Amino acid sequence: MKPKILVTRAIFPQVIQYLSEHFDVEDNQNDEGYDDAELVRRLQGKVGVFASPSHRFTAELFAACPTLKAVCNMAVGYNNIDVPAATAAGVMVTNTPDVLNETTADFGWTLMMAAARRVSESEHYLRAGLWKKSHYLDFLGVDVHGSTLGVIGMGRIGQAIARRSMGFNMKVVYHNRTRLAPELEKAANNAHYLSRDELLRTADHVILVLPYSPAVHHLIGAEQLALMKPTATLVNIARGGIVDDAALINALKAGQIAAAGVDVFENEPAFNPDFLSLKNVVLTSHIGSASVPTRHAMAYCAADNLIAALSAKRPPNLLNAETFKS
Ligand code: GLV
Repeated sequence: MKPKILVTRAIFPQVIQYLSEHFDVEDNQNDEGYDDAELVRRLQGKVGVFASPSHRFTAELFAACPTLKAVCNMAVGYNNIDVPAATAAGVMVTNTPDVLNETTADFGWTLMMAAARRVSESEHYLRAGLWKKSHYLDFLGVDVHGSTLGVIGMGRIGQAIARRSMGFNMKVVYHNRTRLAPELEKAANNAHYLSRDELLRTADHVILVLPYSPAVHHLIGAEQLALMKPTATLVNIARGGIVDDAALINALKAGQIAAAGVDVFENEPAFNPDFLSLKNVVLTSHIGSASVPTRHAMAYCAADNLIAALSAKRPPNLLNAETFKS
């Protein structure tokens, strides 16, 4: 008998097929929304789960699902999983790093450029039939080329974002928990390390790419937004909760900063409806890694982690090494 696993969300059919070669798979190709209780119910008797960040894996869940041996998240972020609780319960946890670096870096740039050049605002104007004649003074944005890029969270995605700035003749400043080695700073367009607040005062475009943890909840709030230049843009492709969304809305309304690009929200898929009344924000629905090749790569990466975890091989992206017994 094959081990039983659950796939919590709809994924590529060929990945379900691939998993079925190894496991007895319960899929969710109708993409039903499981609440916490339904997730626990479906996990009964399962040894592994191909998980998505939209589901929470808590100490209570691990206690209620004693057969579970592996949670393999199809995401680089894993703040939906209580990793210490998983470790205590002997459950392996994996994520999908690296395969999404370049695609997510592209998207950070997409939002930065769209916000700086007022792309959404102009498109809405055109779609609303308001474009009757051309004006020299409409939709004037801020420049990206030649400006200073600020990256908060200089991990692999942050470095990929910084590298792209070379072609735009930009300076790069960054803030990170730990300073990068000199050769990594050099490769990231000679990125210059600053404190968070100094970065906010200096940068023309700030991109957030750090992982979420309670320690960085509302890292960017009213006080920090007040440090930014009135011509600056802010892009959040990291996680909801890192920015105080209500404070960002106030800053955008007051013209304290020029514009923002927001892909991740507090409490998503719900979000603060006040965003919708603002013209100077580009809003997207958490699609940073959403290209066809990258989502394929992420799905196979999560599947390979699950296959390794449940066949006594060390999963390539194991986050809690203590749980692996060779
Ligand atoms: C997406 O947000 C991810 O963490 O991969």
